[in-house]
Formats: sequence, C-alpha cells, structure tokens
Amino acid sequence: MTRHSSFIFAAPAILLLLAGCRREMYDQPSSRPLEYSAFFRDNQMASRPLPAHTVARGQLNDDDAFYRGKIGTNLVTVFPMPVTRELIERGRERFNIYCAVCHDRTGEGNGMIVQRGFPRPPSYHIDRLREAPIGHFYDVITQGYGIMYSYADRVEPADRWAIAAYIRVLQASRNVRIADLAPAERSRLEGAK
Ligand code: HEC
Repeated sequence: MTRHSSFIFAAPAILLLLAGCRREMYDQPSSRPLEYSAFFRDNQMASRPLPAHTVARGQLNDDDAFYRGKIGTNLVTVFPMPVTRELIERGRERFNIYCAVCHDRTGEGNGMIVQRGFPRPPSYHIDRLREAPIGHFYDVITQGYGIMYSYADRVEPADRWAIAAYIRVLQASRNVRIADLAPAERSRLEGAK
C-alpha cells in the first residue's frame, strides 16, 4: 500500500474526529435563570435585575373600579363599563354555568347542589341584596363570601361584571315598578289587564 492510499483511508476518520469538535447549538455556554455567574459585577447572578418600576405587560391592573369593584375601600355603585344587551347575555350564560348550580337560575338559592345538601345561599331577591351596591356582587365573585369560595380563578374580571349585570336583571324580574318601565312596555302591560 502506498503512502498516498493510506491517507485516503485515514481521511474519513480524521473528518469524523473534526466533526466531533464542532460546538452544537444545544451545547452552549448558557446560564439557567438565577444561576451564579461571575460575568456581571453587581450581583453575581446570571439573571439581570429588573429596571425599577417595571410592570409586566398586561398586569398593571391599576383600574381599581374595574379590577376590585372598589374605589379605595368603598364598593362602586355604578358599572365601570356601559351595560349593553350583549354584556347581560354574556352574564346570563356565565351565571348559568358557574352560579346556578347553587343559586339556581332564578337567584332564589335553591340550586341542585343545595338540594343535595350544600348550605343554602340567601336569595338575591331579599331587600339587603336588592339594595347592595353593584360592587358587592363583583367583590363576592372575586373574594368569595362566608362559605362561598372565590371564583376569581375561573371567572375573569369582565365576566364578573357581566354576571353582576345579569344578577340585577334577575332582581328586576321580580321587583320593578310599573312607573320605571319604558312607555311602550307600560302601555303593552296596561292594555293586557
Ligand atoms: C357551591 C355553591 C355556590 C356557588 C357555585 C356560588 N355560590 Fe354564591 N353563595 C353560596 C353560599 C352558600 C352563599 C352564602 C355564604 C355565606 O353567607 O356564608 C353564597 C352567597 C352569595 C352572595 C350573597 C352575599 C351576601 O351579601 O350575602 C352572592 C351575591 C353570591 N353568592 C353570588 C354568586 C355568584 C355570582 C356566583 C357565580 C360566579 C356564585 N355565587 C356561585 C354558594 C355558592
């Protein structure tokens, strides 16, 4: 075998060895979050401290009326958004999913879970709840109330307001003065008697 031909046989082996030296993307000198690192002089951590007053995008939630149903410590008395038919219909849907199992579809408080033994909630049609500020309903959904647990992780803020609006509709369905009706509705009812 000549010297030349032995090189031809050795070449692939050398190439393979060289390939082994290449640095792959998965093998980088990267740091894991909060790992020690001597690279930065100030805190010896791989992660950089956040600049002062940084707020994660979409998480500032500084509209107290909307996100807490309160201004300071006072429950709000007006909706923080326009009450539209669409909002109320969304509220009806959410209410029937999340609340009716206990409060029943009329708000009387006789849902299926109550019929199976869960403590009965107060009816929405009692004077205290008819007169409660709208922020109270938002607050009960957000924080829970007595033995009722919070729905904050299941019902997002806009939907809590939609449900509150629908609760007002349920209340009005049993307690509306004829004088408060629109003229067309009133004459329709008056004509019916
Ligand atoms: C698992 C049953 C259950 C579900 C589901 C439930 N509630 Fe309740 N709720 C209760 C009980 C029980 C009470 C009474 C709590 C107490 O007084 O300790 C209550 C009380 C309330 C009150 C009255 C608070 C007061 O001032 O007396 C409101 C308003 C209310 N719930 C709204 C809701 C809304 C809105 C939903 C749906 C997002 C909901 N609840 C879902 C059981 C439930």
